[in-house]
Amino acid sequence: MRSSVMPMPHSGSARPPSSVAVSASGLRKSYGDKTVLDGIDLRIPAGTVFALLGPNGAGKTTTVQILSTLVAADGGQALVAGHDVATSPDGVRAAIGVTGQFAALDDLLTAEENLLLMADLLRLGKREARARTRELLQRFDIADVAHKRAATFSGGMRRRLDIAMTLVGDPQVIFLDEPTTGLDPRSRRTMWEMVRSLVAGGTTVFLTTQYLEEADQLADRIAVLDGGRIVAEGTADELKARIPGSHVRLRFADSTAYERAAAAFPGAARDDENLVLRVAGDGGLDALRALLGRLDAAGVRAADLSVHTPDLDDVFLALTGHGTARATDTGTTDAMNTGTTATADTTGTSGPSRAQENLR
Ligand SMILES: Nc1ncnc2c1ncn2[C@@H]1O[C@H](COP(=O)(O)OP(=O)(O)OP(=O)(O)O)[C@@H](O)[C@H]1O
Ligand SMILES: [Mg+2]
Repeated sequence: MRSSVMPMPHSGSARPPSSVAVSASGLRKSYGDKTVLDGIDLRIPAGTVFALLGPNGAGKTTTVQILSTLVAADGGQALVAGHDVATSPDGVRAAIGVTGQFAALDDLLTAEENLLLMADLLRLGKREARARTRELLQRFDIADVAHKRAATFSGGMRRRLDIAMTLVGDPQVIFLDEPTTGLDPRSRRTMWEMVRSLVAGGTTVFLTTQYLEEADQLADRIAVLDGGRIVAEGTADELKARIPGSHVRLRFADSTAYERAAAAFPGAARDDENLVLRVAGDGGLDALRALLGRLDAAGVRAADLSVHTPDLDDVFLALTGHGTARATDTGTTDAMNTGTTATADTTGTSGPSRAQENLR
């Protein structure tokens, strides 16, 4: 399978830079006596990627449904591409594409037929529909299977076709609800490339995800949704800056070495029970070299050394008091284990255990 994604020139109208694609204030939604959204504010500049991050049931899909006019809010206001979701839903619908959390393909139709059906629904002329379908089949690397039924597609192919369908109308704003859940690491990367090429073409992307790494990779800005509210908002770096910083963890084999090292690093946090010192620092090569030099000078060797860099998992835990649903899922290690820049031991360097450590 090739995984190249060609940037596609937009055939739609030019988009003014620095305009706001999505804005919302005080969005509220309850189902029965359960408050799902308890006053959500958003401001997403055009041509950027925004990631709404939250665990299962946080209200991500509900937010997407409100912004895409599929569900009415109980309160608050939202503008998408300049149209009010409550008073101008048709204007919103004409400007957006939505890829839901669960693929909305007709299994009995081929990939090409699915796309042509969408073009028909959007009332594109026959010639334009054919041209657009051909272009999207190529672009999403499904031209080879254009005449195969969607029922025979793998999860990753379905996701690609699903997003291709979203783009038939050349939307200004696209909503991708958990676009990579269930995809293997390679398909996830292909999806990331697609998102990047969409944004390079001027599209605004609103995505929801449970993968912190995904938000870190793709999003210009990230909002963390928990308990119906946005508990933090900013760039990945801004969010990371809100929690305790990087440190190097040194463990010693015996108490003599431990005490000698402690004397050499008077500022380090001590863990006498485990003979571990935590030295603040970014774990970069220069810092590590200096640290090892200092140990040498003190005449001690560490039994092991690891560098702990805060990642968005740590942020999530710090902000919400609980981890993400995915953080405990061993099947997603590819998405989760990328925050540590160097490590000499493999214990406690991933997911919630590392997050806990940073907060201790
Ligand atoms: N139509 C509905 N009727 C009743 N409750 C609903 C409805 N839609 C959503 N909810 C509830 O609202 C809450 C938020 O759901 P939502 O689907 O928005 O969460 P999510 O963040 O998308 O979760 P996930 O990660 O599992 O997709 C959940 O408790 C859900 O049960
Ligand atoms: Mg959802």
